Amino acid sequence: MSVIFQRRSVRSYLPQPVEDDKIERILRAGMEAPSAHNRRPWEFIVITGEEDRKAIADMSPYAKMVPQAAAAIAVCVNLDLGGGDATGDTWWVQDLAAATENILLQIVEEGLGGVWLGWYPDKDRVEAFSRRFGLPGNIVPFAVIALGYPDAKKPPEKKERFDPRRVHYGAYGKQK
Ligand SMILES: Cc1cc2nc3c(=O)[nH]c(=O)nc-3n(C[C@H](O)[C@H](O)[C@H](O)COP(=O)(O)O)c2cc1C
Repeated sequence: MSVIFQRRSVRSYLPQPVEDDKIERILRAGMEAPSAHNRRPWEFIVITGEEDRKAIADMSPYAKMVPQAAAAIAVCVNLDLGGGDATGDTWWVQDLAAATENILLQIVEEGLGGVWLGWYPDKDRVEAFSRRFGLPGNIVPFAVIALGYPDAKKPPEKKERFDPRRVHYGAYGKQK
């Protein structure tokens, strides 16, 4: 089965570090994502320190699993490479979402589990993260991905999601 169909958000992890070679392959997968005008405006911050992971958990009510995760990867945009507020060019949001999904899929491929934590466009989260991790003004944290070896005692729920009513053939509302 393809990793696309295996992937589910994993929020419980074993207390076991993730090997550097796995992290590197995960980052390589992120950088393989498609990108508008092939700008590839991403930058990644790998965070493993305990105090740093606790600090991330305090920045969002939905990031409470981060201290338990072996690592967090912040997927950031470099606005100097990928447009920005001055031009109103926000194609980078799609680039960064594609990179984030690639990372989540490679995490599965590596036998790990991860979860996408929304950061941008929440102003408070973006500011808190930027302050703590020394991001210059042109670097904006888009998403944080918590990852680690999954706690098999708590496998994520898995249900069929394909819904033919959401698919239209030829024109909206037309079914096969
Ligand atoms: C943009 C975005 C932001 C998300 N933010 C969070 C988050 O802050 N915390 C969290 O636990 N899950 C977060 N998720 C994961 C979703 O809750 C999850 O993908 C959804 O419930 C579907 O479950 P699945 O990933 O297992 O398929 C986010 C997902 C996306 C795409």
